[in-house]
Amino acid sequence: MSGRNLPIDARRLWDDVMELAAVTEPGRPYTRSAFTPRFLEGRAFLAHKFAAAGLQVRIDAGGNLIGRRPGRSPAKGVICIGSHSDTVPGGGRFDGAAGVIAALEVARALAERGHQLEHDLEVIDCLAEEANVYGVSCIGSRAMAGRLTPEMLAYTEPGGESVARAITRVGGDPDRIAEARRGDVAAFLELHIEQGRVLESENLDIGIVRAIVGILRIALTIEGRADHAGATPMDLRSDALCGAAEAILAVRAHAAMTAMEPTGYFAATIGVIEVAPNAANVVPASARLVIDARAERRETMQRFALWVEQDLPRVVAGAGARLERIVVLSDSPHADANAGLCEVVAEAARSLGFSSREMTSGAGHDAAMFSRIAPMAMIFTPCRDGRSHCAEEWVEPEQLAAGAAVLHEAVLRIDRSTKTS
Ligand code: GLV
Ligand code: MN
Ligand code: MN
Repeated sequence: MSGRNLPIDARRLWDDVMELAAVTEPGRPYTRSAFTPRFLEGRAFLAHKFAAAGLQVRIDAGGNLIGRRPGRSPAKGVICIGSHSDTVPGGGRFDGAAGVIAALEVARALAERGHQLEHDLEVIDCLAEEANVYGVSCIGSRAMAGRLTPEMLAYTEPGGESVARAITRVGGDPDRIAEARRGDVAAFLELHIEQGRVLESENLDIGIVRAIVGILRIALTIEGRADHAGATPMDLRSDALCGAAEAILAVRAHAAMTAMEPTGYFAATIGVIEVAPNAANVVPASARLVIDARAERRETMQRFALWVEQDLPRVVAGAGARLERIVVLSDSPHADANAGLCEVVAEAARSLGFSSREMTSGAGHDAAMFSRIAPMAMIFTPCRDGRSHCAEEWVEPEQLAAGAAVLHEAVLRIDRSTKTS
């Protein structure tokens, strides 16, 4: 690790990220899906570390794990820092975890210097940021932003457990979900790996996120008819999976065209497919797909949603199946960072001798939810080859330490500059 004199302990930061990464489904690194026993194990590790750092630990009604360090002037509001500890299946060691542990490291560094802030400081592990089997992501930060609706609480995973029940299981209280809503946040800062190649290709230390794309998730149910796979002639079948296949290719083609238009970043993916009865000798009776669309501009997203509604049924019908239902699972508009906070982060990076640039995030983050209730900014670190949501995800220890040092410096600067609320 570099000998650079940073205000945080780079070795401790790295070791903790590695220790949390070791909490994974065996044989499937690195998997710590929200609400699973592994997730709870990771949370226990974090809660222990939060307490050891002298933080007051609690779980709020939305199931967020929070460590608080009281400041001298609580009326100034809370500076919140953090990210999420859940992962995608077969994900990486840093997506989310790096941000939670960097936030913890900032709290530890402050405690070790006996530096008391004016503001209260909270280190937050937001519940269930990633897309998951319950059909709604950013569950904890949604609750803090007052955007976790009763409908979302009622969503169920395939085994029948509701989001509400799952929140209870991790220590939250869905009956009092309104209490999770925050009106006291002076600023929210999230450190995260970039999950793209921009910083690496430009050889820069830090990315400052100016905007986060909007994310629309739509479930499609395609119906066909179950028939004998051997005895039903090809021209007499209605194969739901063939309808799904055409839909997948059509979404890709349409997204590729949209992405070439000069209307900001756009991408769409179908990453979920469920087929029933899922048997080799039965013509598929139904299929369920989930579209994940990302757009920098609202109008682009609206045009895409309209295309799904108006054109996809025809595409599926062309394959002899029927697009029975189109359900919007979640629709999170794009989020802007606070310009003043971005400037604070830029100054923090500069003061420590790190290079930086502003950028848009094509990935979703808890910070997008926080932007609805407070000034928000994000600090990106480079990651190798831009790989993310895969086991190859990697950031050099020095790069992570640089990000955490900028987070630390930005917290100090916000503490000095934010006006009393
Ligand atoms: C979060 O990782 C997302 O962008 O889906
Ligand atoms: Mn992720
Ligand atoms: Mn993430």
